[in-house]
Amino acid sequence: MANDLFTPCQVGTLQLTHRVVLAPMSRYRCSKEMAPNSLVGEYYEQRATSGGLLITEATHINPEGTPIWNIYPAIREGGGEAPGIWTEEQTMAYQKVVKSVHAKGAYISCQLQHCGRVAQDNIKDHPFVKESGLPIGPVSASATPISSSGERGNHYNWDQPSLPPRALTIKEISRVCDDYASAARNALKAGFDFVEIHAGHGYLINQFLCDSVNKRTDQYGGSLKNRCRFLYEVVEAVLDVVGSDRLGVRLSPTFEEHIQYFDVSDSDPEKLYETAIQGLNSFPLAYLLLTEPRAGGLSSQQIMSLRSLLHYQVHDLGVFITER
Ligand SMILES: Cc1cc2nc3c(=O)[nH]c(=O)nc-3n(C[C@H](O)[C@H](O)[C@H](O)COP(=O)(O)O)c2cc1C
Repeated sequence: MANDLFTPCQVGTLQLTHRVVLAPMSRYRCSKEMAPNSLVGEYYEQRATSGGLLITEATHINPEGTPIWNIYPAIREGGGEAPGIWTEEQTMAYQKVVKSVHAKGAYISCQLQHCGRVAQDNIKDHPFVKESGLPIGPVSASATPISSSGERGNHYNWDQPSLPPRALTIKEISRVCDDYASAARNALKAGFDFVEIHAGHGYLINQFLCDSVNKRTDQYGGSLKNRCRFLYEVVEAVLDVVGSDRLGVRLSPTFEEHIQYFDVSDSDPEKLYETAIQGLNSFPLAYLLLTEPRAGGLSSQQIMSLRSLLHYQVHDLGVFITER
């Protein structure tokens, strides 16, 4: 295993020289316009190695899917923002980051995120979002609120009360797919090597996948096929833009009741994630990133068996360095 770590690995059409990949980690260091600044550039450049792969922090595709910026006390005090990639300014700011990473011979994937019901409507008070005139959250698969009690709804020390989300209409679901596609277009413009769809951690796509949140009775709810539909439509929309072998997907399977992200769970997680991952085989993805829950919940064996479901070599991309 130790030897494997520093052996080459094919991801999409790119050849990595080693398998130590930087996991996506929100750093909240961007400007008020949610644009990466020089500090962000320095962070990624420091972690870039020749032939290595970095995945960016969650990057928002629109204001609607952006969680309230002062969600964490430290952020409220420090004032840093998460990045977005729906404006020209954000795209151009990311272009500088990508250039500095490429200058060191590394590759970089842009993680695209819509947080669904984790967003709160006081994002509308954000000076930047206020001026955009774009839709704001919280929205979700259904009007299922995050439980306000205990750890479940409060996974990240969220000290704000959560508002019930509005269920997206079918027309809006199609607009959200367009927002993903447009963000992916911007990511390509910024020079990213890959785009990653964040479909885990209790955010919007995860809310569609899981029956604790998704109570829809239309083609996006009920059966597993229907609950996976939104994930696949987002994948299709982004693939149309980026093409084969440049798209990654992140999922966070959790099989135990006590491990949940933002109160999202499923009554049959084994079947759900098996179906979701097998369905992804019909798309020409570059990689699948599976989160291993910190406090147990999913054994290494379960992780390996999920990885083995996908027909291409995701298990080779097995080591992630994270920073605390
Ligand atoms: C500070 C911090 C920020 C994170 N932000 C993101 C993120 O933006 N997107 C994401 O998919 N995962 C995020 N994660 C999860 C990590 O990618 C990783 O899956 C998690 O830390 C589990 O790995 P570990 O047990 O080695 O820490 C974050 C983790 C940390 C510690």
